[in-house]
Amino acid sequence: MSSPVQKVVLITGCSSGIGLRMAVMLANDEQKRYHVIATMRDLKRKDKLLEAAGEAYGKTLSLAVLDVCSDDSVKQCIDGIKDRHVDVLINNAGIGLVGPLESIRVEEMKSVFETNFFGVIRMVKEVMPDMKRRRGGHIIVVSSVMGLQGVVFNDIYSASKFAMEGFCECLAVQLLKFNVTLSMIEPGPVHTEFEAKMIQDVREKEYPGADPDTVHYFKNVYLPSSVDIFETLGQTPDDIARCTKKVIEASNPRFRNLTNPRYTPIIALKYADETGGLSVHAFYHMLFNLGPLMHISMKAMRYMTCGCLRNRAVAPT
Ligand SMILES: NC(=O)c1ccc[n+]([C@@H]2O[C@H](COP(=O)([O-])OP(=O)(O)OC[C@H]3O[C@@H](n4cnc5c(N)ncnc54)[C@H](OP(=O)(O)O)[C@@H]3O)[C@@H](O)[C@H]2O)c1
Repeated sequence: MSSPVQKVVLITGCSSGIGLRMAVMLANDEQKRYHVIATMRDLKRKDKLLEAAGEAYGKTLSLAVLDVCSDDSVKQCIDGIKDRHVDVLINNAGIGLVGPLESIRVEEMKSVFETNFFGVIRMVKEVMPDMKRRRGGHIIVVSSVMGLQGVVFNDIYSASKFAMEGFCECLAVQLLKFNVTLSMIEPGPVHTEFEAKMIQDVREKEYPGADPDTVHYFKNVYLPSSVDIFETLGQTPDDIARCTKKVIEASNPRFRNLTNPRYTPIIALKYADETGGLSVHAFYHMLFNLGPLMHISMKAMRYMTCGCLRNRAVAPT
């Protein structure tokens, strides 16, 4: 049960990764300012969260079932909260999809949009009317740098996050009129099950329908660079949780929150050339012509910085 002075924070996708660490960090707030409703689609996956939450469970943290792909599940969860009152909604649940487009079934693509895009819409539609009525609340969406800049072989995942960004840009303006804040968290690579699932997936898949050259570029050119980038620049889920907590606590929360400053120049590149050619060609050269050089420079960066680049998060002001 939350106390009247505590903010009720509902987070989706808390069985692992970023959602789990957000739930633990907010529930263990020293001033006990939050009551966290950590949700997941399958409560059998709760153990890791409960172990990490320690004594907060049952005090500042409670659990609830919520599948963002089910209208009924979303409604049941929100109806189960006292007065349906949510102060902060964190839309974190998401799935990835990587690989040559030709080998991905349209059904798989739809399930990415069902979770990453319509999952957020379902949550917002259920919670936003009460926030508007109360003239207060904060909706947070975990997007990605891939929602701002497309990355080769991540066509569908990236598109789902771009869709989310467009949705948020529209809604944020209307919500201001109701004193409801909308913020996006835009991480670069983060070490979570997301990365592990991607690597596992790639090992198991055959990529039927894709020609041998494309499969070669995907497996032998893109994947090694992706692993390099994760190893060198990847942040921890705690970095993202810390950044999100600062966004919640800011007196004037920012709309966009890139968590990794190393991605700022990549985004700037896109807006520096209105034809779009600069970023398309820069990415092409980086991947196909400078791949080996990039591998060496990433290794050198890891060596020189003892891996500390991985753990830096930018604190939004
Ligand atoms: N890791 C990265 O590099 C990275 C970078 C940028 C943005 N992000 C974003 O960060 C968010 C969290 O990802 P993560 O890295 O923490 O990955 P993760 O460890 O795989 O966590 C994803 C969470 O989403 C949950 N989920 C999936 N489908 C769901 C559904 N239908 N209903 C409710 N929950 C569902 C998963 O639950 P189950 O245990 O039931 O599968 C899991 O708890 C995602 O939106 C992702 O796009 C991640």
